[in-house]
Amino acid sequence: MSHTEKRFKIKTLNNIDAYALSKLTHEFTLNHSDSEVDAIIVRSADMHQMDLPENLKFVGRAGSGVNNIPINELTEKGIVVANAPGANANGVKELVLSALIMSSRNIESALEWTQTLVGESDIGPKVEAGKKQFVGPELAGKKIGVIGLGAIGVLVANMCLGLGMDVYGYDPYLSVQHALGLNPSTKTQYDIDYIMQNCDYITLHIPYNDSTKNYLNAELLAEAKKGQIIINCARGGLVDLNALEDAINNGSIGKYVVDFPDEKTLTMKNTINIPHLGASTPESEANAANMVVNQVMDYLKNGNIHHS
Ligand code: MLT
Repeated sequence: MSHTEKRFKIKTLNNIDAYALSKLTHEFTLNHSDSEVDAIIVRSADMHQMDLPENLKFVGRAGSGVNNIPINELTEKGIVVANAPGANANGVKELVLSALIMSSRNIESALEWTQTLVGESDIGPKVEAGKKQFVGPELAGKKIGVIGLGAIGVLVANMCLGLGMDVYGYDPYLSVQHALGLNPSTKTQYDIDYIMQNCDYITLHIPYNDSTKNYLNAELLAEAKKGQIIINCARGGLVDLNALEDAINNGSIGKYVVDFPDEKTLTMKNTINIPHLGASTPESEANAANMVVNQVMDYLKNGNIHHS
């Protein structure tokens, strides 16, 4: 780079994969604190209340979806917004696997109970007696509804087939033909009502925005098969929590597993709260950061926008 060439200024709002960022350090000034930044790279920090730097040209989200970004305001100002769809798909898929097993086999309560044995002697008979309270069903042969058949939903659906589950895919926005890579044994001809009424498990993989807020509402929850387990490794706001709490309290929903706890879910019964770990793998973090870093470089240097 010649000395006269402009050096772009980039700010990061969360921890972003270091290797991906190292690609920027040669050509861009990183973590500029003044109001002159050209681009922001963000992970899950909420940008809605943030004062936007005057010269901002690009916001890249190292994650999938843009619900923490004031997309309308940025678009009106001509600021380009990019994200990294699918970068975390494998990480989320594997977390769904653990959510399915944790909730079905009562692993969370079982581990808590096991720790009560600390300090006791001759625990063998106590384990054998205690384990009876944690009997839980196998996944094979059970019905699961995968709501949302984008990059993550397709991986989850195929994984569930591998577990021997009966998989019902549903996507409120795309026709299922668009869900490329979906194994043909996934049943896709059923609507959301059928899925709510018949599935033992529901797993949510739709984006969160104004039209999907409280997507699982009182009406849909009222249709749920008794004891249904709901897994939400997408976004907390997709579920109407007041309606869900009622459904859990009256026994129609068996359990709720959420990878984005809030004050309410932390105190709800039969709810397993995971602290937003879906994309917390080195692989997902690196994929997301690389996707965004490549986009920011290409836009600031060449004016190219990657459509995803
Ligand atoms: C994602 O959308 O990929 C994650 O929510 C990002 C994160 O874990 O911060």
